[in-house]
Amino acid sequence: MCGIFGCILRKGDAAPIIHAALKRLEYRGYDSVGEATIEEGKIHVKKDAGSIDEVHQIRNLDNLPGRIGIGHTRWATHGAPTQANAHPHVGCLEQPEIAVVHNGIIENYAELKKELEDSGHIFRSKTDSEVIAHLIEDTLTNIRREKIKSKSTVHSDFERAVLSAVQRFQGSYAIAVLSAKEPDTIICARHESPLVLGIADDALYLASDIPAFLPLTNRVIYLESGELAVLKSNTFKVTKIASRSEVFPEPKIIDWAPEMAEKQGYPHFMLKEIIEQPSCIRNTLRLQDKYLELITTFMDRAREVIMVACGTSYHACLAASYMFSKLSFLATHPVIASEFVEQHGKSVNIDSTILTVSQSGETADTLAAVETARQRAATILGLTNVVGSTLTRVSRVYIGQQSGPEIGVAATKTFTSQLSVLSQLAIRLAKKRGKVSQEEIDLLEDNIERIPDIVENIIETQHKKVENLAKKHKDKQCFFFLGRGISYATALEGRLKLMEIAYVPSIAFPAGESKHGPISLIQPGFPVFFICPPDDTRKTLIGNIMEMKARGASVIAICEEGDENIIDLVDDYIEITKGIPEVLSPIPYVIPLQLFAYHMALERGCDPDKPRNLAKSVTVK
Ligand code: G6P
Repeated sequence: MCGIFGCILRKGDAAPIIHAALKRLEYRGYDSVGEATIEEGKIHVKKDAGSIDEVHQIRNLDNLPGRIGIGHTRWATHGAPTQANAHPHVGCLEQPEIAVVHNGIIENYAELKKELEDSGHIFRSKTDSEVIAHLIEDTLTNIRREKIKSKSTVHSDFERAVLSAVQRFQGSYAIAVLSAKEPDTIICARHESPLVLGIADDALYLASDIPAFLPLTNRVIYLESGELAVLKSNTFKVTKIASRSEVFPEPKIIDWAPEMAEKQGYPHFMLKEIIEQPSCIRNTLRLQDKYLELITTFMDRAREVIMVACGTSYHACLAASYMFSKLSFLATHPVIASEFVEQHGKSVNIDSTILTVSQSGETADTLAAVETARQRAATILGLTNVVGSTLTRVSRVYIGQQSGPEIGVAATKTFTSQLSVLSQLAIRLAKKRGKVSQEEIDLLEDNIERIPDIVENIIETQHKKVENLAKKHKDKQCFFFLGRGISYATALEGRLKLMEIAYVPSIAFPAGESKHGPISLIQPGFPVFFICPPDDTRKTLIGNIMEMKARGASVIAICEEGDENIIDLVDDYIEITKGIPEVLSPIPYVIPLQLFAYHMALERGCDPDKPRNLAKSVTVK
């Protein structure tokens, strides 16, 4: 996730406006920044790695000439945060003709890059985005060389080049493009990634999100996926990319306060991030194949695989250990990072592979475990949300989880993204090891593609019910979260969310273990969550539900829709779409638990975004 911005002003300099707008988009990414403007037919670019303030101190982002320009604040996915990888990207020409900023992932960039390199293009970065600049430049050259004149005057060469180029992209994009030859124009286009236009009397703006231009105008046009807009100093035109027909969207007036706008109208980042999960999971389905392949190759060869993480990331590892065992027939050991040195510090060695999972890539306990393992020559693999973090630097191979920055302290979207990546690794490893039939693999792959829609559906249909559940239970002093098999990890995560943001002491156990102690706490009305996907553990789990009911517990089930055997037994239930394979179940089944924690926090007067005593990234041991 990155932030893009562009503006055409009637008067004044664009650069300070771009700089201020990027600051307002900084929550979308902050590892590098850049701007491009045009003056007198020349493109001027400034960009570098670092936060906006750091880069501004060194390069003065306000000091670029011209009334028209684009900008970008980056959250690295392909290629580390370096100056070369920062946007805008320009084509090959010494004096650039094209400059591009991009948010999204161009899935087929490797093929396009190869094709362009074969025809002489020279790339400077490791990003997928650079291919956009070269492809537009190339298409423009072809249009001119072949002297293909547009039959109508509707599209200029620049517009035709962008229209043709974007039709070749697979994946997601929101782009803004400048051409030195059309110095009064910005062309922007989107597929999936967000893009809005801001209309003012004396300026036009484009941005990934409304807050970027909200202090300047509140008249907004939401571009639809598959639309392209040509902005000129006092006009704009919106075209459907596929049909090339013009559309006439009506501007809307936004009445959000700026702080609200950053949260896109949601009252809290946590809720925004819960609701963003379908699109984050979609992003994880566009992972670079070569990294999945490399990581699974190392795992396949390892004598032992230890997964190391803290907090929510540890819960993702625990769920993944069931995935690797059930699909790939590989035993992996999830270990809480702060225990790793004591537990494995002496036994880890050159034959060990450590799959390290850390959203931030900076958690001190996790990095300490990695350091111990590295000193003993183990192979370090990383899964993180922050490309460029310490974890990416110390890993032999790493993979980015593509969730974009998470502002709420409680991890939500980053958890389900981690699970999605880990399940893809498990499926890939299963294929490699030939342990699962092709039919089963096909089914899993089809189902993983369905997950974003399923999550969307759960949020849509169950949110109100969960909110009411929180109202009902808001004064309860303690909760149980129970699950069997992979759902034990879901139970642990549900319990962590509730404890960390609503401050309700809670207990999570494997359901089978609850009778070995925790059940003694149960008295009439004690709330117990059961995570009940219809897997092999369901029958036994029903027994555990009955044990709790017999002692008067108030049972809440997260179960498959229409699962009458469970629904009839329990006091409350939240329904999850049918037909989800067991190994993928933690992704949809955790969603109601995240929403429950969120609403419990609100009911109890807690700020879900800023839980007391906690930090997003814990960089001390
Ligand atoms: C802190 C955060 C948690 C997070 C944990 C691990 O405790 O509050 O949300 O799960 O650190 O962080 P990491 O960045 O390593 O995943």
